[in-house]
Amino acid sequence: MSLGIEVLIPEQDVRDRIQEIADALSEKYAGEEVLLVGILNGSVFFLTELAQKMNVPVEIDFMAASSYGSGTESSGRVLITKDLERSIKGAHVVIVEDIVDTGQTLHLLTEMLLERQPASLEVCVLLDKPARRKVCMDADFIGFEIPDAFVVGWGLDYDQKYRDLPYIGVIKEQ
Ligand code: PRP
Repeated sequence: MSLGIEVLIPEQDVRDRIQEIADALSEKYAGEEVLLVGILNGSVFFLTELAQKMNVPVEIDFMAASSYGSGTESSGRVLITKDLERSIKGAHVVIVEDIVDTGQTLHLLTEMLLERQPASLEVCVLLDKPARRKVCMDADFIGFEIPDAFVVGWGLDYDQKYRDLPYIGVIKEQ
């Protein structure tokens, strides 16, 4: 049995949508500086594209939280493996993620970062898979709502592969 990848969201659609989100963020934070907090590793491609398309000053920092083992099923656990390098007290923070699935990762991270007293905290995700939600988690900015399929590309992996695909694909067993 081999794996194939079908295009779910074409590259240009992803780039156009990221531009729309960047415009919305630039409007919301006009006159302010924004700290984009990326959650490693999946957020990297989305975060860099978003940052380059925004027209307000941005700083970036990263956290890492692991919620999956290898393969396609969530373990249901969230472990913080890397914290931010700087204080976020008084900062306008936007958490940037590739996907909200069960919601466990972002639920934990938003609670943790709110305790650090940012001036504001918003959550921006490229993909939302609401069918899989286990805890309440509503992102403020969402690129695309997707069905319950295993997706890759734009930072999303299958056993660490395919993160670099410039489109969103669905893994199919052949
Ligand atoms: C993925 C994804 C999110 C999280 C979403 O990360 O990047 O961080 O799972 O799942 P949840 O909503 O069920 O918590 P993963 O742990 O696979 O690490 P990665 O970003 O390095 O791929």
